[in-house]
Amino acid sequence: MTIARAVLAPMYGGPEVLEVREVEVADPGAGEVTIEVRAAGLNPVDFKLFSGARGGDPDALPLPVGLEVAGVLTAIGPDTEIASGGGEVGDEILAFRVSGGCSSALTVPAADVFAKPATLDFPEAANLLLVGGTAADMLRIVPAREGTTMVIHGTSGAVGVSLLQQLAPLGVRAIGTASEANFDEVRRFGGEPVTYGDGLEGRLRDLAPEGFDAAYDCVGTDEAVDVSLALVDRSRLVTIAAAGRAGEEGFEVVGAARPDSAAFRDSNRAALVDLAARGELVVPVARTFPLDEAAAALTLLAGEHPGGKLALIP
Ligand SMILES: NC(=O)c1ccc[n+]([C@@H]2O[C@H](COP(=O)([O-])OP(=O)(O)OC[C@H]3O[C@@H](n4cnc5c(N)ncnc54)[C@H](OP(=O)(O)O)[C@@H]3O)[C@@H](O)[C@H]2O)c1
Repeated sequence: MTIARAVLAPMYGGPEVLEVREVEVADPGAGEVTIEVRAAGLNPVDFKLFSGARGGDPDALPLPVGLEVAGVLTAIGPDTEIASGGGEVGDEILAFRVSGGCSSALTVPAADVFAKPATLDFPEAANLLLVGGTAADMLRIVPAREGTTMVIHGTSGAVGVSLLQQLAPLGVRAIGTASEANFDEVRRFGGEPVTYGDGLEGRLRDLAPEGFDAAYDCVGTDEAVDVSLALVDRSRLVTIAAAGRAGEEGFEVVGAARPDSAAFRDSNRAALVDLAARGELVVPVARTFPLDEAAAALTLLAGEHPGGKLALIP
């Protein structure tokens, strides 16, 4: 058994409820490995979970925080290989989806652990798979058709940037919304930026008189949904953040709670790791924080413009 320092939510609420506590980490059994965490990736769903917005089951408290990590293997269960094969103590790895990733160490199923590509440092690797899997899932549900033009709402965000990179080999024109300060980031990944806000539909029609074939919504605002429905057939719109309107108006929403999404995202992890290893998928990290500053990191993440991925360094 190892003693680790972990971020926990002892009650539901804002980032101020978070505490760093000592926790026991069990030795790995068969099919498990123990990881010394070098970086814990942070995602908007982390604060959505401990905020109680998704149902605050009191029996789940204290709630562990964090779904993805990168680090080093420190122990391996008997007859156990990691998902990418092999695995030795000292190997650099990443893991997703885990429970309680914001910790200095944790024991997880080996099936969720992959060799870390040398192309990514620990904070980048700890932020690869949730957004990468989400973007890939959007493309599974609404495949991009070669030679067409699409709109991406929130293209400067973490999912948007991953989407742009996964679209790059497909020969499409991607026009994406962002704040002007982030236009260069959108261009860096092959997108054509446009500001969101009043008049968006007109600006998009001016930029693409040929019309749009698909819309990918990574924001979930009414504006993003309304403009998408005005530009494309609803069968060619997919959102990750407007579940309510998708349910009411009959367009696609993807999320880890959707069984086919969960299965696809699990099966697609190795392909994303390979893409990153080839240098074809990078993860812009805006900032890292010490584990003790989890509340500050999650406050920044809960804002609208974190400007890239964030990671906690134990
Ligand atoms: N369903 C799923 O499986 C799933 C998975 C991952 C994420 N999500 C959700 O998807 C959303 C995006 O996640 P993310 O990690 O990509 O977030 P992020 O990195 O914080 O990006 C947010 C994006 O939204 C843009 N934005 C902010 N305010 C806006 C507004 N009022 N109108 C239009 N665009 C606006 C930002 O643009 P600027 O900063 O350039 O202004 C940026 O492009 C979050 O709600 C997250 O919870 C869902």
